[in-house]
Amino acid sequence: MLSRLLVAFALCALLGSGARAQDAQAEEVPYIRTPQSVVDKMLDLAGVGPDDYLIDLGSGDGRIVITAALKHGARGFGVEIDPTLVQASNEAARKAGVAERAQFFDRDLFETDISKATVLTMYLLPAVNLQLRPRILQLKPGTRVVSHDWDMGEWRPDAKVMLEGLNKPVMPVQASTAYLWIVPARVAGTWRLQLEDPGKKDAMTIEFTQRFQEITGVVQRERGRTLLQSAHLRGAEIRFAVIDETRRPSVPEQFFGRVFGDTMEGSTGTGRHWRAQRQSGN
Ligand SMILES: C[S@@+](CC[C@H](N)C(=O)[O-])C[C@H]1O[C@@H](n2cnc3c(N)ncnc32)[C@H](O)[C@@H]1O
Repeated sequence: MLSRLLVAFALCALLGSGARAQDAQAEEVPYIRTPQSVVDKMLDLAGVGPDDYLIDLGSGDGRIVITAALKHGARGFGVEIDPTLVQASNEAARKAGVAERAQFFDRDLFETDISKATVLTMYLLPAVNLQLRPRILQLKPGTRVVSHDWDMGEWRPDAKVMLEGLNKPVMPVQASTAYLWIVPARVAGTWRLQLEDPGKKDAMTIEFTQRFQEITGVVQRERGRTLLQSAHLRGAEIRFAVIDETRRPSVPEQFFGRVFGDTMEGSTGTGRHWRAQRQSGN
């Protein structure tokens, strides 16, 4: 923790005395390259592949987007406010033979449309990550977000990898950390769930409470009210268990499904199809 604060301090010190301390705007983020070995780990962590569209916010010399195109067959772009770096990145992509799949634009990251991303990468500053967080949470559920060194505050990462012994300009032999988040579907609110079982009707109302990817729920059935068990959300994939306490022994019924906006559907552990519709909430 101390070393991370020192790095933050050193990054800010590089900016000179004119830096506004109270809100670190993106334009204050200095140019420091992610070591290539860390770039490789970040892309592995996100599981980047040929179907991905990767956007790097503050793309420096373009190494993340170029590596994603070259080694993983992905497409994407980087945005960067230093035009010299943008030019060098487009040139490097051309030399690497990936100019059609890796493009770079002289653009402010705060004015960049990131909605096409299936993978978003960044090496910015803690305050900038926090400023971006509300926009990131609006991305398509399942979008992977990887940050070099800085976290997202209270949004717990889905994975975190420490990479030891890498040289960085501001802190020699300083470990790097790569964080991964999977953008969760928005499930907070009340849902009406119907089990589609020929000849046997079963319905329930579930009230989901959500904090980032963490969800809990209360189930209301004709037979009474119970807490949802083992509720888990990863991108658009949801699973939970409902215990019917009126039955003895009370066996949890497992639900596996996917969220599609205001609908979710899937099957139970015993192969019954279920479908739920949002009644209220976002
Ligand atoms: C720490 S470097 C990371 C470079 C590259 N992504 C990497 O990991 O090697 C951050 C980059 O963000 C750029 N940057 C800072 N503010 C920006 C903004 N508002 N819009 C776009 N790029 C910005 C800086 O010029 C710098 O090149």
